[in-house]
Amino acid sequence: MSFSSALASAKQILDEADAITVMTGAGISAESGVPTFRGTGGLWKGKDPMTLATPEAFFADPDFVWEWYDHRRAELSRCAPNAAHHALVQLEEQTADFTLATQNVDGLHRAAGSRRIVHLHGDIFTVRCTDCGNERVDRTHGWSGPPHCARCGGLERPGVVWFGEALPEGSLEAVGEAVGRCDAFLIIGTSGLVWPAAGFAGLARRLGRPVILVNLEPTEQSSLATVELYGRAGEILPRLISG
Ligand code: OAD
Repeated sequence: MSFSSALASAKQILDEADAITVMTGAGISAESGVPTFRGTGGLWKGKDPMTLATPEAFFADPDFVWEWYDHRRAELSRCAPNAAHHALVQLEEQTADFTLATQNVDGLHRAAGSRRIVHLHGDIFTVRCTDCGNERVDRTHGWSGPPHCARCGGLERPGVVWFGEALPEGSLEAVGEAVGRCDAFLIIGTSGLVWPAAGFAGLARRLGRPVILVNLEPTEQSSLATVELYGRAGEILPRLISG
C-alpha cells in the first residue's frame, strides 16, 4: 500500500471512530529534542541509563541517580511540544471518548493541552516520598542534593516507573478498558519492546479493533497493524488529523 493510500485509510478509520485510544512512546517527542530510549545509547557519567532507572540503583546511590534526573529535568524543561503533540490535542477535541496512554515521562502531552492522559510510566516532574508515599509536583532543577518530604522528612524519589516496578495503580485497567471501548487504536513512536505497555496492540487486535501505527521505522508491533505509516510523527500526525 502506498503512503497516500495508507494515510487515506487511516484517516477514514479515525473519522468514523467515536472512541479512540492512543498509545505514545519516546518517538513522538523526538522532534521536540527529547532523546529516545533506544536511539542514542548515551551514557551518564559512564553509566548506562537503563541500569540507572532501577530501584536498586536509586537506593544504592540516591545522590547519583537524582543528579541524573536533575540533568534530564533541566534538558526537558527546554523542550516544547511539537506538531504531533498538538495534533493529538485536536483529535481529543474531536472525539467523544478519547484516551491518551503514554509511556513518556516528559510532560509534553500535558504542556500541549491534552487532558485525558494516562501516564503509564509516571511523570518526571513529580516526586514521591519513599517513606510516607506523599506525592507532589516539582518542576525545579539545579542540583542541590536529593529532596526530602516536607511532611515526614523521608527521602523523595522521582515519580517515574523504574524497571522491575509496578505501573501506577489503576493505569493498566484504565487503558485496558479504553482499548475495549475503542473503535480505533493509534500507536505512535514506540518500539513496542517494553511490557506491559507493549501488550495493548495485541489486545486491540484480538478484539478486532483497527490498529494504526505511526513510526519512523517498522517495529515489533508492525505485524499487528491494520495500517502502517512510516515517517516522522510531527509530519504525519498533522496530515492524519485535520479538520
Ligand atoms: P524507544 O526508544 O524504545 O522507541 C522509540 C521509537 O520511536 C523507535 O521505534 C523509533 O524508530 C521511533 N521514532 C524515533 N523518532 C521518531 C519520530 N520523529 N517519529 C516517529 N517515530 C519515531 O522508546 P519507547 O518505545 O517509548 O520505560 O520506550 C518504552 C519504554 O522503554 C520507555 O517508556 C522507558 C524505556 O525504557 C521506562 O522508563 C519504564
